[in-house]
Amino acid sequence: MDSPLIVVNFKTYAQGTGEAAVGIATACRDVAEEAGVTIGVAPQLCDIYRVSSQVDVPVYAQHVDGVSPGSNTGHVMASCVQQAGAVGSLINHSERRLNLADIEASVRAARAEGLTTIVCTNNIPTTAAAAALDPEYVAVEPPELIGTGVPVSQADPDVVRGSVEAVKKINPDVQVLCGAGISRGEDLIAAMELGSVGVLLASGIVKAEDPRSALEDLVSQL
Ligand code: G3P
Repeated sequence: MDSPLIVVNFKTYAQGTGEAAVGIATACRDVAEEAGVTIGVAPQLCDIYRVSSQVDVPVYAQHVDGVSPGSNTGHVMASCVQQAGAVGSLINHSERRLNLADIEASVRAARAEGLTTIVCTNNIPTTAAAAALDPEYVAVEPPELIGTGVPVSQADPDVVRGSVEAVKKINPDVQVLCGAGISRGEDLIAAMELGSVGVLLASGIVKAEDPRSALEDLVSQL
């Protein structure tokens, strides 16, 4: 089994904001080093620079807009995110949905800055549409399972299998992540057995009483 990509989304959890973001990112770096895997973090936009300048860990933005330099007040420009130290970005997370044209513009803008793109999707048809936009990754996450602790790999394995199949047909260069309810080592293994190359997860780590031991559990069966 290849080494997975694990991305921990800090959302807007208090436990992953400001200095606390640095603490969880440090735990991600340490556990990744010990286990020989890649663990990226997606803190809030305002914490990208703080985390990337203090911790040697791949940092992803939670969102980026398809805007160029100019008059775009309140938007998130890919070049700014890149200069803040991010290596990639989530796009179209189910808590930050975009329309198809906006997703395409965000992917294009991020790619132009050399950022790795992870387009989130909610089911097989949207996964297929996202794959056609040629991101590096799509991350399929059924919204009804997000934050429940019920792993997608167990509750809805067909959405992962079906996404992997759809992507293979449409754009085999794209790799599939899955997420929602993932927290344990067995969830990660099950996700990979379904054909995904890694997981996107949040509450199981960020809201855990001890994020470091939650991370150790996550990678324990690799
Ligand atoms: O971006 C990851 C996320 O939406 C999944 O959340 O809390 O179910 O791991 P969670």
